[in-house]
Amino acid sequence: MEIITQPDSQQASLIAAGIVARTVQEKPHAVLGLATGNTPLQLYRNLVRMHRDSGLDFAGVTSFNLDEYVGIPPAHPSSFHSYMWAHLFSHINLPKERINIPDGLTTDVPAACRKYEQAIRSAGGIDVQVLGIGSNGHIGFNEPSSSLSSRTRIKTLTEESRLDVAAAFGGEEGVPTHVLTMGLGTIMDARKCLLLAFGKKKARAVARTVEGPVTAMVPGSVLQLHPRTILVLDKDAASELEMADYYAWVHEHKPDWQKY
Ligand code: GLP
Repeated sequence: MEIITQPDSQQASLIAAGIVARTVQEKPHAVLGLATGNTPLQLYRNLVRMHRDSGLDFAGVTSFNLDEYVGIPPAHPSSFHSYMWAHLFSHINLPKERINIPDGLTTDVPAACRKYEQAIRSAGGIDVQVLGIGSNGHIGFNEPSSSLSSRTRIKTLTEESRLDVAAAFGGEEGVPTHVLTMGLGTIMDARKCLLLAFGKKKARAVARTVEGPVTAMVPGSVLQLHPRTILVLDKDAASELEMADYYAWVHEHKPDWQKY
């Protein structure tokens, strides 16, 4: 794991945007795995700015989102569909037909999940998977106890995760109970994983992900088995890492050819 800690989320998001932008520049038909939540908002703002001001071109790109709520129509203001259009897709030239988000309204969940996996394979696999992390260590919506080799499927949200998004649904009662999410095995197939975490609230999950045992109880910890995972943190999210000084030293002394 490569751990990059920045003074604040703004600087961290610039680095993350640079990593995504470079992928798209080097491979115009890149496949991006995208996440929702507050964490990647500044990353998306940077990508929008790079598209607008420097012509970063998404015309050949394909995207796959990690997850979507079950039973929520795409047009619902708190759906991940709405989030993605509001913060990224409406502002860049990624063709609509190459945008993929799990269908939370499907009447045949297993078939829809199989189709999603097949679509990722047909697109050539994900080049960079953007990830946030839940305060309980989930990635995508793979809640604790998720199989480390799981594929896209339906999951039941934990109470903690439902509380985290309660405000967006007008209180906990309004929060969907189920989601469709890429599995941990699906995420692990990405060529590169880029996990962002900001704020004190994420410090414990980050420490357990990086320095704890690999365990289904901390789904993010499976990334220890991924050969190319980069974590971009602000200093609060990094505050419980025991070897933080070592990671900083490694990062500062990396030869240029090895960076990211
Ligand atoms: C949700 C999403 C995750 C995201 C997490 C953290 O659970 N499914 O992909 O990483 O929330 O959200 P936030 O970035 O708002 O803290």
